[in-house]
Amino acid sequence: MTPYLEWVEAEVSFGDQKILESLSLSVQAGEFISILGPSGCGKSTLLKVAAQLQPLSAGHYHCAAQEQGFVFQEHTLLPWLNAQENVELPMILRGEIAEKISEQSQRLLAMVGLEGKEKSYPDQLSGGMRMRVSLARALALSPALLLLDEPSGALDEMTRNQLNDTLVNLHQTLHFTALHVTHSVHEAAYLADRIFILGGHPAKIIKELRNPLPRPRRADMRDSLEYHHFTVECARALRLS
Ligand SMILES: Nc1ncnc2c1ncn2[C@@H]1O[C@H](COP(=O)(O)OP(=O)(O)OP(=O)(O)O)[C@@H](O)[C@H]1O
Ligand SMILES: [Mg+2]
Repeated sequence: MTPYLEWVEAEVSFGDQKILESLSLSVQAGEFISILGPSGCGKSTLLKVAAQLQPLSAGHYHCAAQEQGFVFQEHTLLPWLNAQENVELPMILRGEIAEKISEQSQRLLAMVGLEGKEKSYPDQLSGGMRMRVSLARALALSPALLLLDEPSGALDEMTRNQLNDTLVNLHQTLHFTALHVTHSVHEAAYLADRIFILGGHPAKIIKELRNPLPRPRRADMRDSLEYHHFTVECARALRLS
């Protein structure tokens, strides 16, 4: 089977500083992939390569997804637009018809748990809610590939778990392929089908871990021994990175 996303001996350099080297990775359609690695090792750079925002200095990258959605670590909502208008913006820029735009934005805001908040402005929403609006906006054009750069990095643990339950539901319903960067082994172990550990200078993939947890994922799986063992395995691999 041809991989949906594929990096072959990929390398990224900024000036004479090599950040990523000999990075080879392939992802199948519909997979949820989490990337773990120390701060500054090149995780965001890898996502930018995936979004074709960052060219390679050597090697190849292939992406079969027509449409991509990007969720950045800090919410990048426009403060003068309300939640619904923020979600509608990509569709307006794309020139979709008005009826479809409002139907899709309301549907997505409901899916991310923001029914009733459509008219609220970003500064009237909590951090978790703002991240949900960003998520809905990234899904506005029905992307086949969703890129998530530490979406829960600024959230407390309870809010993070709730957001991750939403992500599980969205992935189950919409069947996108996800590339997700995180610092949290607990989050990666709950969400991902496979986890890649990035490490070294320059960074490459130093370990791949296949998640033993079955799908569909349910919130109570966080209490299972299997989940606990897997998080320990991930944490150990990360320590060695
Ligand atoms: N446009 C750029 N120009 C020059 N250097 C860059 C550029 N973008 C990233 N870098 C450098 O590349 C390295 C990796 O950065 P990147 O943002 O990918 O790390 P990261 O793993 O996402 O870190 P964090 O976990 O802190 O978000 C850093 O040393 C950074 O300074
Ligand atoms: Mg980063």
